[in-house]
Amino acid sequence: MAKCRVCGAPAEAYLDYSRTYLCPRCFNDYYERKVRATIQRFKMIKPNDRVLVAVSGGKDSASLLAVLRKLLPDVEMTALYINLGIPQYSDHCEEKFKKITEVLGVESLVFDLKRELGFSIPDFRRTVYRRRLCSPCGTIKRYLMNKIAVEQGFSKLATGHHMDDIVETLFNSYLHGDVEQIVRLKPVLPSTHPKFVAKIKPLWNVTEQENLFYATYNELPVRTVGCPLAKGARSLEQKRYLSSLVEHIPNFRHVFLSSHMRKLLPALERSITAPPLKECKKCGMPTSGEVCAFCRRAELVLGKILNQSPKFKV
Ligand code: AMP
Ligand code: FES
Ligand code: ZN
Repeated sequence: MAKCRVCGAPAEAYLDYSRTYLCPRCFNDYYERKVRATIQRFKMIKPNDRVLVAVSGGKDSASLLAVLRKLLPDVEMTALYINLGIPQYSDHCEEKFKKITEVLGVESLVFDLKRELGFSIPDFRRTVYRRRLCSPCGTIKRYLMNKIAVEQGFSKLATGHHMDDIVETLFNSYLHGDVEQIVRLKPVLPSTHPKFVAKIKPLWNVTEQENLFYATYNELPVRTVGCPLAKGARSLEQKRYLSSLVEHIPNFRHVFLSSHMRKLLPALERSITAPPLKECKKCGMPTSGEVCAFCRRAELVLGKILNQSPKFKV
């Protein structure tokens, strides 16, 4: 049996990108050190920040909440779950969300899309999106996370995006030459408008597999079923495609992200200026067009103007 590289105990975690074996205890130390280093390097969280942590019920954001709570016990933190109304999935995730916030003793906030706004993600089946529901779902989640954070006075919004997610999105943006998307994807996106909260990604430098190890070794309650609407989604296909690349080049993600951050991003940032922001005619949130992406999608399913503030059940 392989031995832990640090302490010599029986190893359980194998990190293929660095060909390292670690035992659960040394892995936890390693993971926490890496997240701490990311938070410090990018100056993500100050002691007086009020942090809203978006928690989906999955292993990534569960690990995020657990590691933030452990590393920053004195920072004010609330976990947010958005129930998207997906049958056999959203309620299961909400249960896990409640369990993890209880176990970690973190304050919680649940936003129920159907109850608050009168529609849910499966309603998009009857629109042009048909089976491609991840796209409107992503727009709705991003909008609500930001709006709730702003309205509740949080100074930072933390999400569980990890290195696999980030490299996948970047890779795709490079393929399509989507420069604006490339420069928006950063470990810290500062607030550029009073109605945009600053966004942070503390798991920027850890892989999906590392989140799985961390969630498992710390016995975090996480969902055991996948989203039924994501089957066959293009993002899953891209995930498989990148994974096969990593099989041949185990540190592909690390090298790609490091070159991007050190060399390409600074050059791209110099050549791109963000489009001027206006206020959405329907909801008043900042947008580069007349009506924001959220309101356009909400109108598709509701057929009417949405102009209400979210209410909460806690
Ligand atoms: P995804 O876009 O599903 O890959 O999720 C990226 C991140 O968004 C997760 O790590 C969470 O931080 C957050 N997130 C996703 N879905 C939800 C949800 N239903 N409620 C709260 N946060 C979520
Ligand atoms: Fe958004 Fe599945 S969680 S489509
Ligand atoms: Zn709007």
